[in-house]
Amino acid sequence: MTGAARGQGRAHAVALARAGADVAVCDLGRTLPTVPYALGSVAELGETAALVQAEGRRCISSVVDVRDAGALAELVEETVAELGRLDILVANAGVISYGTAWELSEAQWDEVVDVNLTGVWKSCRAAVPAMLAGGEGGAIVITASTASVKGLAGMSHYAAAKHGCVGLARSLALELAPHRIRVNCVAPGGVRTPMGTNTAMQQLLEQDPALAASLTAALPVDLVEPEDVSAAVVWLCSDAARQVTGTVLPLDAGTLLR
Ligand SMILES: NC(=O)c1ccc[n+]([C@@H]2O[C@H](COP(=O)([O-])OP(=O)(O)OC[C@H]3O[C@@H](n4cnc5c(N)ncnc54)[C@H](O)[C@@H]3O)[C@@H](O)[C@H]2O)c1
Repeated sequence: MTGAARGQGRAHAVALARAGADVAVCDLGRTLPTVPYALGSVAELGETAALVQAEGRRCISSVVDVRDAGALAELVEETVAELGRLDILVANAGVISYGTAWELSEAQWDEVVDVNLTGVWKSCRAAVPAMLAGGEGGAIVITASTASVKGLAGMSHYAAAKHGCVGLARSLALELAPHRIRVNCVAPGGVRTPMGTNTAMQQLLEQDPALAASLTAALPVDLVEPEDVSAAVVWLCSDAARQVTGTVLPLDAGTLLR
């Protein structure tokens, strides 16, 4: 589970533990220069591990940047050594920043694409050999977004990266289908996490009523809860979804209907 210090990643780790999984959790544990809100901390990652253990499951936790292929490989090795095997990957870590496509700095573009797309690919590349070696099939869930299937003014780098996640997932689903490893995306709308509620995002929505309207849920809720997404993640990883691969599942309270 990447990006597990808080937010959706924490909720998914706890939900998977409740469903019977031992869990390896990782997070960056520090801020990034172009991201206009604080990211998860090392202390929060420790809290996630304690919450997993409180469900009666084993947990290993590690400070890992998903842009660091070597660190991801070490975590996979440690996971197999400590927990016995690896049969689920949830590639959830992500960041956002804001600006029109022509005003974004290269640093903003690179940080969002490196974490949200290349980091997802690196996470898959690290995990898949261990999943294949297990020989028991498996499930990969990539956290995409409603921005995987629609444009978002002021967030073109984020939308480009999240569209890319869908292309990666669909291609990987084909490559791994013969091995009974399924690859799917969850596509949340606005979720009640520090990313979803950060001040810069609120300011952008106030300045751009058309953007705010396009992000408004159809159901009478302001935001989706992390646990709503976790329920889909657990289902996609379960045998109940054994025929489901290559899909993009919106968890958006009907936002995409607009
Ligand atoms: N919150 C929303 O409204 C929303 C909507 C759609 C999709 N998403 C996606 O959901 C996922 C989870 O986000 P969230 O809402 O829980 O936000 P969040 O900011 O609460 O959690 C994201 C976590 O990822 C970690 N992270 C960031 N960069 C990392 C890196 N390089 N390596 C490892 N960990 C890193 C952060 O430290 C943080 O703990 C992200 O992929 C995000 O793009 C969020």
